[in-house]
Amino acid sequence: MLGKLIRPGSMCRERETEEIPLTTARPENLAGRPPPPPITAQILLRGVEESSTMEGSDELLFFVNGRKVVEKNVDPELNLLTYLRKKLCLTGSKLGCGEGGCGSCTVMVSKYNPFRKKVIHIAVNACLAPLCSLHHTAVTTVEGIGSTTTQLHPVQERIAKAHGSQCGFCTPGIVMSVYTLLRNNPEPTMEEIEDTLQGNLCRCTGYRAILEGFSTFAKTSSCCGQSGSKNGCCREQTGLSPRLFEPSEFKPLDPTQEPIFPPELLLLRESPQQTLFFKGERVTWIQPTTLKELLTLKGRYPEAKLVVGNTEVGIEMKLKNMLYPVILAPAHIPQLNVSQRTENGITFGAACTLTYIGGELKKAVVELPSYRTEVFKAVLEQLRWFAGQQIRNVAAVGGNIMTASPISDLNPLFLASGCLLTLVSEGSTRIVRMDGDFFTSYRKTVLKRHEILQSIEIPYTLKGEYFSAFKQAQRRDDDIAIVNCGMRVAFKEGTDIVKELELSYGGMGPTSLTAKKTCTQLLGKKWNKELLQEACLLLVDELTLTPSAPGGMVQFRRTLSLSFFFKFYLSVLQKLGQDFKGDFEVESIPPEYLSAMESFPNDPPSAVQLFQQVPPGHVPTDVVGQPLVHLSSIKHATGEAIYCDDLPRFERELSLALVTSTEAHAKISSIDASEALKVAGVTCFLTAKDVPGSNTTGQIVMDETVFAEGVVTCVGHVIGAMVADTEAHAQRAAKAVKITYEKLQPIITIQEAIANESFHLPPKKVQNGNIDLGFAQADDIIEGEIYIGGQEHFYLETQCTVAIPKGEDDEMELFVSTQSPTQIQSLVAKALGVPANRIVCRVKRMGGGFGGKETRASLLSTVVAVAAHKTKRPVRCALNRDEDMLMTGGRNPFLGQYKVGYQKNGKIVAVDVKIYINAGNSLDLSSAVMTRALFHIDNAYKIPNLRVIGYVCKTNLPSNTAFRGFGAPQAMLLAECWMNHIVAKCGLPSEQVQKLNLYQEGDLTHTNQKLEEVNIRKCWDECLERSSYHSRRRAVDEFNRQHRWKKRGLAIIPTKFGICFNAAFLNQAGALVHIYTDGSVLLTHGGTEMGQGLHTKMVQVASKALGIPVSQIHISETSTNTVPNTSPTAASVSSDLNGMAVYNACMTLLSRLEPIKRANPKGTWEQWVSAAYMDRVSLSVAGFFRTPDLNYDFEKNEGRAFNYYSYGVACSEVEIDCLTGDHKNLRTDIVMDVGLSLNPAVDIGQVEGAFMQGLGFFAMEELRYSPDGVLYTRGPGMYKIPTAGDIPTQFNVSLLRECPNRKAIYSSKAVGEPPLFLAASIFFAIKDAICAARAASGVPGTFRLNSPATPDRIRIACIDNLTKMCPPAGAGTFTPWNVEV
Ligand SMILES: Cc1cc2nc3c(=O)[nH]c(=O)nc-3n(C[C@H](O)[C@H](O)[C@H](O)COP(=O)(O)OP(=O)(O)OC[C@H]3O[C@@H](n4cnc5c(N)ncnc54)[C@H](O)[C@@H]3O)c2cc1C
Ligand code: FES
Ligand code: FES
Repeated sequence: MLGKLIRPGSMCRERETEEIPLTTARPENLAGRPPPPPITAQILLRGVEESSTMEGSDELLFFVNGRKVVEKNVDPELNLLTYLRKKLCLTGSKLGCGEGGCGSCTVMVSKYNPFRKKVIHIAVNACLAPLCSLHHTAVTTVEGIGSTTTQLHPVQERIAKAHGSQCGFCTPGIVMSVYTLLRNNPEPTMEEIEDTLQGNLCRCTGYRAILEGFSTFAKTSSCCGQSGSKNGCCREQTGLSPRLFEPSEFKPLDPTQEPIFPPELLLLRESPQQTLFFKGERVTWIQPTTLKELLTLKGRYPEAKLVVGNTEVGIEMKLKNMLYPVILAPAHIPQLNVSQRTENGITFGAACTLTYIGGELKKAVVELPSYRTEVFKAVLEQLRWFAGQQIRNVAAVGGNIMTASPISDLNPLFLASGCLLTLVSEGSTRIVRMDGDFFTSYRKTVLKRHEILQSIEIPYTLKGEYFSAFKQAQRRDDDIAIVNCGMRVAFKEGTDIVKELELSYGGMGPTSLTAKKTCTQLLGKKWNKELLQEACLLLVDELTLTPSAPGGMVQFRRTLSLSFFFKFYLSVLQKLGQDFKGDFEVESIPPEYLSAMESFPNDPPSAVQLFQQVPPGHVPTDVVGQPLVHLSSIKHATGEAIYCDDLPRFERELSLALVTSTEAHAKISSIDASEALKVAGVTCFLTAKDVPGSNTTGQIVMDETVFAEGVVTCVGHVIGAMVADTEAHAQRAAKAVKITYEKLQPIITIQEAIANESFHLPPKKVQNGNIDLGFAQADDIIEGEIYIGGQEHFYLETQCTVAIPKGEDDEMELFVSTQSPTQIQSLVAKALGVPANRIVCRVKRMGGGFGGKETRASLLSTVVAVAAHKTKRPVRCALNRDEDMLMTGGRNPFLGQYKVGYQKNGKIVAVDVKIYINAGNSLDLSSAVMTRALFHIDNAYKIPNLRVIGYVCKTNLPSNTAFRGFGAPQAMLLAECWMNHIVAKCGLPSEQVQKLNLYQEGDLTHTNQKLEEVNIRKCWDECLERSSYHSRRRAVDEFNRQHRWKKRGLAIIPTKFGICFNAAFLNQAGALVHIYTDGSVLLTHGGTEMGQGLHTKMVQVASKALGIPVSQIHISETSTNTVPNTSPTAASVSSDLNGMAVYNACMTLLSRLEPIKRANPKGTWEQWVSAAYMDRVSLSVAGFFRTPDLNYDFEKNEGRAFNYYSYGVACSEVEIDCLTGDHKNLRTDIVMDVGLSLNPAVDIGQVEGAFMQGLGFFAMEELRYSPDGVLYTRGPGMYKIPTAGDIPTQFNVSLLRECPNRKAIYSSKAVGEPPLFLAASIFFAIKDAICAARAASGVPGTFRLNSPATPDRIRIACIDNLTKMCPPAGAGTFTPWNVEV
C-alpha cells in the first residue's frame, strides 16, 4: 500500500504537486482484527491546514506490564504518567514535579531499535513522555516487576529491607531506575548505581540506606574500611549491632526471570513504519517515517515543533503555558538517528539521544589515539553532569542545539570545537559551522523557518590542539549550569605560540557566545603568564553582564569566566609540558597549583551505623529496640502504598485548579472569568462570595482568607478556583481567568520590614542574668550579623485534598495529605459554616511533610471543600509542584545580629542578640517559630548573661510556616556563628573553646530550666574520638599547605534540642485500641504517618505493651472520627505523646484482661480475648496522655519550657574548589542521643534524613525572589535539594549508648528534628576551608558568610586576584534580579 501526500496547489502555487511514498504496508494486525482504515491528515489537521491529505494511522499500539494497549485518537498533550495513573489506574508511578526533575515517575521503556538492531531498555520520566511517542514500545512500571501478592523483585526487596524508604513517595521511581540498570547490566559497579540515581530525588532518607541496600547488587560492597584500626572493623565491635539488615537473607537477582520483550513487537520490527497522526483538542501530532516526508511537513507548517525527547517542549508547554498546535516527531527517521565516523570527526543524527552519543564517544576515546579525542572527552565530561539518566536517555542532541538555551551544556563545546551542522529543508541542504554567529539572539539561531537540523559532526582534534569543558552549577548532579564553557587552543607546530583559540561560554549572555575579541587578540602569543594576565583583562572587558542581568549572581558569573580560563591555562600548560617535553620551554606549574585541575576525590561511599543491640534474654515478641523495617516499606517499593491522589476517582468527581495572584500587594480591580468558563468541561468558578461559612481563616490568629477579598497580599494568594471535569480542563480554564490589579507598595525583605516597622507582633524577649555586668566582665566584645535564607519543604508529594460531600446533614469526608487532620476539620467546618462533627478528615499517609503540611494544607482543603459543597460532587486537587512552591511558604528567612562578650580563655560571659524572621503575609506559626528560636539561641552553651529579642516581620510574601527544627536551626546557626567569630578572634582551637562553654549536668539554661541527664559532653567526646578529630585536623592543615586552589575544612558542632510543643496545651495525645474477637488489634492514634516511621513505632509500643506479635496489630489511618482533637504531628514529640497514649490504652486493656489471664495462665492471647468478649468485657479503649510539668512563664522567664532535651554532635570535613565555589562533603561522623532507641533503623534513618535536609538548608538550597516578591525557584529545575551524590563520602552515625530517658515512652527520645542542625558542621567546615583560601590570598581573619553556603557565596568569599577583577556594582545603583528576603 502506498501512502500519498498530496501537496495542494492552493498552498504552494510555485511548486508542482508531487507524490511522496509513505509506507509500503501496514503492520500485520496481531489481534486478528482487520486493519483500521487509513485516516487522512485532512481530518486531523482541521483548523491548522484545511486542505492537506495524508494517509497514515491514528492508532497507538504499545504494551504496559506485558499487556497490549491499543488507543485511538490519543491527545498529544497527554503524557504517559497521567495515562498510567488516571486511565490504567496504575498509581505506583508518582507525580513529584511533572518536569523531569525528581524521578518519582520513572518507568522502564523497552523498544526494538532498528538502527542498533536490538531491544533497548531505558529509564524514562513518564511525566515528560508524550503518550503518542510510545508506539511499539513496552512500558514497565513498578507494578509490573513484583508485588506483595505475587513476589517481590530483588530491587523492591532490597530497598525496603535496607530501610531505604521512609515516606515511600520516591521509592517506586528509584526502584525503576535501578531495575532498568540491572536489566542492562546485572552486575553494576557502585559508581554505576550512583550514576543511575542522579535523576532521582529523595527528601526523607538521606540516601545512605538506599545506596547501601543497592550496594548488595554491586560487584564490590562497602564497609567502614577500618579493619585493622584500633577498634577493628566497624561491624565487629562488641555490644554494638553490626548492621541494620542482613544481606544474606536477600533473594538473589536472577536475570533469566525477567519478563521478555513482547514477541508481538518483535514481529513488528521488520515491518515498515507507518505515519502516525494524533489529533487532540488543541494539538496535532504527526510522526513521519521518512526525511522527505518530514521536510515536506516542515515546509508546510514552518511553525511546527519538532519533538524528540520532549524535555524542552514538554517544559515549555507545562510551565511556560506555550501551545504548539502541530508537533512533528522525527524520532524514527533513519538519517536523524544514525552516527558515522568520518574523516574529520563523528557525525550524529540530530535525534540521537545523549545516552547514545555518550556511548559512541566513549568507544571512540578507547579506540582512537588520545590526542584525536580531546573534544570527545570534554563532551563526555559535560554529559556526566548533564541532567539525570532519565533525561539523557530521551533527550536528543538536536533538541539541545536547537533550543538555543543560553545555558545549554553542549552548545559552548560545539561552538568552541567548530562542529559542523547539516541543515536541511525541502530541496536544500547546507552545512554550517557552529561559530559565534550561529546563535542570533535569545533562543534564536540561523536556521530558516522551513529548515531542520539533520546532523552534527563533532570533530577530532589534532596534535598540539587542546580542548576542555567546564561547568559550575548550584548542584553537581542533575543541574543546569550557572556558567559553562568550551575552550580550544591549537599551537603552531612545535611551539607554544597560539595559532587558534576559541573560548565559548554559556550563562554569560542571552545566547551561548564566543569571546571573539579576546581570542583574536591572543593569537600569536606564547602560552605563558603574560598571556594569562592579558586574557583575564580581555575577558573581563568582553564578557560583561549588567548588574541586573537575569539569573543574578553577576559577580560570581564574571569571576567564573576567569576561573575557567585559569584552569584551562594550567591544564594546557601541563599538557604542553607532557607532550613537548624538551622540544621547547614550557612554563613550570608550582606543585600547589596543580590542585586547580584536580577533581574532588571520587571514593566509593562508605558508612557505619552503630547502635546498641537489644540486651540478651529479650522476649521474642518484644520488638522495641529492634531495627524493624518501616511497616509500609514493602508497599512503598511495590507501588501499592496509597497516597491521597492515588485514591481511585469517585463517581462524578470534579477537578479543581487554583487562580492565584500575580502581584505581591494590590487591590483587585476586576476578575473576568467569562473566557475561562467557555473552556470545555468547566463546571464553575469560585471566589470569596461562594464561601458559605466564614471566608476568614488562619492558624493561631484568624488573619487569612479562603479566597482573597478586595486585596491580595502576596504572589500566590488564592483568589479563585476553577472546577472542571478533568485536571487539564480546570488548569486551562484557571489560566484563562483575567484579573486586573491596582498595585500597592509591597514589603518584601526583612530590611524593608524593619524600615517600615512592619511586624506581626510586638517584639518577643528572653532575658537572663545581667547583660551589662556580663559585658563588663568580658576581655573582648565582638559584633556581627548573619542572614540565613529560607527553605522549601519539597516534600515529594505535593499538597492534595479530595473532598466528598455525603449528601445529608452537611456531612463531608476529606482525604487530605496533612499533618494536622483536626485543624483541617475545624477550618473546613468554619469555611462551610457547619459544626465540626459533620466533617471527617482522613489521612492514610503522606509523601513527606516536614512541617509543610502542618498548617498550610488548609489553604487547599478549605477551597476544595467549598467547591465540593457548592457542586455537591466529589472534588479533587493535587497542587502542581510550581503552585505548591509558589503558595505554601517554607522555612522563615532569618537575620541575626549579635554582640558577644568573652574572656581570654574563650569563656562566654554575655550575649545580646536581635533576631528578625520573615513571616510573610500572615502570622501562621511564625510566632511559635520565633519562640523556639529564642529558646535555642544558646545552642548547647552555657551563657550566664543573655538577652535575645525577636521581631516577626510582616511582608508580602506567602506566609512562612513550620519546618523541621522550627526556628531552632537558624538560632543555633547564629550561636555557632558568634562562637566561630570568638575562635577566630582569640586564636584558640575551636573544639577547645566550644567544649569549655558546653552545658554541664545541673546547669540552668537561659530560660532557667535545670538540665538533667545532660549527654552533650558524652556525645562530644565520642564524636571527637570516632572522627579522629585531632589527627584529621593536622591532616587538613597539611593538605591546605600543599594545595593552593583546593582547600579542606573541618568542623565539629554540638546541638541541644528542647522537646515538647511550646504551646503547652498541644502536649496531649489520644489513642484508640480495639481488640477484635479473633485477637487482632486495630490501633489508632492521633499522629499521622509521613515517612518518619511513627506508625511502626506505635505498633512496636503496642506489641510490647500487650505482649503480642507485631503481625497481629494493624494501623489503617488517622482520622478525626476515631481520635478527636489531636495535636499536629510535629515538634518531634509524636512518638512521645502518642506512644504514651497507646501505652495507656494498652494498659487499660491488659488490666481488663488480667482476671481472665489469671484464670487461664497457660491460655493464648486469642483464648483470653475470646473469653473476655464472652464475659462482656469491653475490648475497646481510648488512651490519653498529657505531658506533665510544662509551666514556662514568659513574663518571669522561669518554669519548664521543655519536657527534656535531645543532644548530638557532628564532625564534618569538606573540600572546596576555591576557583569555582564547588564543594564536596568528604566525611561526617554523628553521635546522637536518642535515649534507648525504640527502633534504631528508623532513628538512624531520621538522623541521616534530617542531616541531609540540613545540608540542603545550610549549603545548597536557595529560594530566589524578585524584588517584587515573585518566587523564581518553583521546581526542581531551579531549586536544588541534595541528591545521592551530595552525601558525605564517608557517613557514620552512632546512637549514643546507655542513655535511657526517664521522660518518654520506653526510655526513648525524640529524633525527628534534633539532628537537622548537625549539618551546620558542613557549613562551618566550608567556612574553615574558605578561611584557609583567604589566608593563602593574604586575607586572614574573620568574615561574614551567609547561609546557605552556595558556590556563589563560597567563590566570592575566596578572595583572590580574579574576584578582585570583578568587583560588585555598588548597592543602590541598580535593580537586582533577585533579593535576599
Ligand atoms: C530535568 C531536566 C534537566 C535538564 N538538564 C540539562 C542540563 O544539565 N544541561 C542542558 O544543557 N540541558 C538540560 N536540559 C534541557 C534538555 O534536556 C536538553 O536541551 C535536551 O537536549 C533537549 O532535547 P529533546 O530531544 O528533549 O528536545 P525537545 O524538547 O524534543 O525539543 C527541543 C527543541 O528543539 C527543537 N528541535 C529538536 N530537534 C530538532 C531538529 N532536528 N531540527 C530543528 N529543531 C529541532 C524542537 O523543535 C524544540 O524547539 C534539562 C531538561 C530537563 C527537563
Ligand atoms: S514527576 Fe516526573 S520527574 Fe518528577
Ligand atoms: S522516602 Fe524518599 S522522598 Fe520520602
